[in-house]
Amino acid sequence: MKIAVYSSKPYEKPFLDTANADARHELVYLDTALTSATADLARGCPAVSIFVGDDASAPVLRALHAGGTRALALRSAGFNHVDIAEADRIGLTVLRVPAYSPHAVAEHAVGLMLTLNRKFHRAFNRVREQNFALGGLMGFDMHGKTAGVIGTGKIGEVVCRILTGFGCRVLASDPVKNPVCVSMGVEYVALADLYAQSDIITLHCPLSPETKHLINTAALAAMKPDVMLINTSRGAIIDTRALIAALKRGRVGCVGLDVYEEEGDLFFKDLSAEVVQDDVFVRLLGFPSVLVTAHQGFFTNEACTAIAQTTITNVSDFERGSINDANRVSTRLIAPAASTL
Ligand code: NAI
Repeated sequence: MKIAVYSSKPYEKPFLDTANADARHELVYLDTALTSATADLARGCPAVSIFVGDDASAPVLRALHAGGTRALALRSAGFNHVDIAEADRIGLTVLRVPAYSPHAVAEHAVGLMLTLNRKFHRAFNRVREQNFALGGLMGFDMHGKTAGVIGTGKIGEVVCRILTGFGCRVLASDPVKNPVCVSMGVEYVALADLYAQSDIITLHCPLSPETKHLINTAALAAMKPDVMLINTSRGAIIDTRALIAALKRGRVGCVGLDVYEEEGDLFFKDLSAEVVQDDVFVRLLGFPSVLVTAHQGFFTNEACTAIAQTTITNVSDFERGSINDANRVSTRLIAPAASTL
């Protein structure tokens, strides 16, 4: 089947080519993102594959459908960028990669914690300049600290395992208790208690109407003033303006972000020769206590292998008419509010 692969980056092509070796689909790699202006590039392609920054709003889906596309294969678990109701209405099958490597994201979240705590990023630069002084680099023992994990699904569970391994007391908030987390000693508590007691808070819940701006002015005020806040989940779970205000008042210790509310205009692109127009983001980068990575939590060899394999399998299944419902996104099968990467 001919597949137009939008937003394809040089680093993911080898994974897709390997995954496609037996399936032998015709992969048409497009550097450009899917938008209403570029949808016509997929004309004649029964399948289109997109990533998280692509626009799959209703008009774009209709344009794809008019060009003959019948399957949309997301190279992601998240589908908040896809108008699922419209896809259902026009008969466009949407397939995703529901799980690839929870370890990739969990380990990245813990990497952010360790970097912020022990200031590896600052130490690296100092030592290269032959500055071997330690002032400003003091951290704290993770052992014995209280970590609050919001969302204990696949990724949150791995984070809990790593943090309990460090000897942290782990508190959790999730409408659904994960028995594996309970068995490792994680204590489910009310969000207010998690905010009040945690030295580190890490977000692993999906973005939904309920979790949008979950971390707002009130939530930040309820946390310890020197809290470490980590978000590898979805940018809009944090109200960035409220976070900036709290940082300015010294109401947050440090922040590690792999995601940002308005990341669509920034991430996955090299803008090093351009003037970034997002003043909120630039303000965020100005705090020495804020560490931002550009949505790379998923970016491991294992995760990219799994994403490519599932994407190709999804298209093959669609071609054969034997879709795996677990990978299908439809208003009939899954709550469209849920959103993961
Ligand atoms: P999952 O679906 O396995 O787990 C999500 C958990 O959040 C579930 O246990 C659910 O009950 C819980 N939850 C839902 N609403 C909640 C609320 N209001 N408060 C607390 N918990 C709530 O999802 P998974 O695979 O663990 O992914 C978690 C997040 O990680 C997703 O939001 C996704 O966007 C993000 N992610 C980020 C990546 C990156 O590269 N930075 C890559 C993959 C996922």
